[in-house]
Amino acid sequence: MALLCSRMSRRLRALEICGLEHYYKLVVQPEQKKERAEMIDAITTNETRFFREHKHFEFLERRVVPRWLVDAQQGRRPRTIRLWSAGCSSGEEPYSLAMLMAANLPHDEGWDATTLATDISTKMLDHARKGIYNLAQSCEIPEALLKQFMLKDIATEEGQMKVMPGIQQMVEFRKLNLAHDPYPPRGHFDVIFCRNVLIYFDLESKRKVVEKLTRCLSRAGLLFVGHAENLGGINSPLRSVAPAVYARAGEESGF
Ligand SMILES: C[S@@+](CC[C@H](N)C(=O)[O-])C[C@H]1O[C@@H](n2cnc3c(N)ncnc32)[C@H](O)[C@@H]1O
Repeated sequence: MALLCSRMSRRLRALEICGLEHYYKLVVQPEQKKERAEMIDAITTNETRFFREHKHFEFLERRVVPRWLVDAQQGRRPRTIRLWSAGCSSGEEPYSLAMLMAANLPHDEGWDATTLATDISTKMLDHARKGIYNLAQSCEIPEALLKQFMLKDIATEEGQMKVMPGIQQMVEFRKLNLAHDPYPPRGHFDVIFCRNVLIYFDLESKRKVVEKLTRCLSRAGLLFVGHAENLGGINSPLRSVAPAVYARAGEESGF
């Protein structure tokens, strides 16, 4: 509550409003769409990094991708992979996924891996779509992927790097509030990353979000949550297959 008040106080000062009650009366007015977006930007925590919680990316590369390769070779699955980064912040997470997919599932061998990246914050989505990051973040990206997929000193200002267009084309950014908006179709995703987002929901909202995310997983699909997040106590339709990785209960995922 103290954190929320301190974040909101900046908004109140900017609008020269004294008191949250007055602000509330303003922000609920239908024409105040822009202010509601400002409010969301003020109260959300957008911390993220490329390849954050790298064990998840290792799990994908060492355990999941090899299975997809074998299954596709044996005609048990298509070469189409659908991923979703739900709560993508400024884009580092979906671009990390896209780089990993591009490196392991070559387009010229018929693979088509796309990532839907959603967030509640318009400001974060605008940043993410540009694909421009501080060069200091380059240490977060494995060297081979950095060389292959990031442009430095080309088409960017000094001290910046840019995601290559080929990787950007693999990611579609869209605004989606996990609490209220309609979700993508049932069974659509092989992988859903919803990491360090559930932490902001109360138990009942978390249960609903996890249930809806689970419905969006394909039968063998996997849900990745943040390592600090706990799905205990919400009676979810999932079983744990690795730290902070879940598969649909009752489905054969191979893990
Ligand atoms: C701490 S960041 C996590 C980013 C990334 N998933 C990671 O782990 O690095 C949390 C993100 O969740 C978003 N978020 C918070 N509540 C949300 C909601 N109800 N629907 C969609 N996104 C939400 C925030 O805007 C923020 O960008």
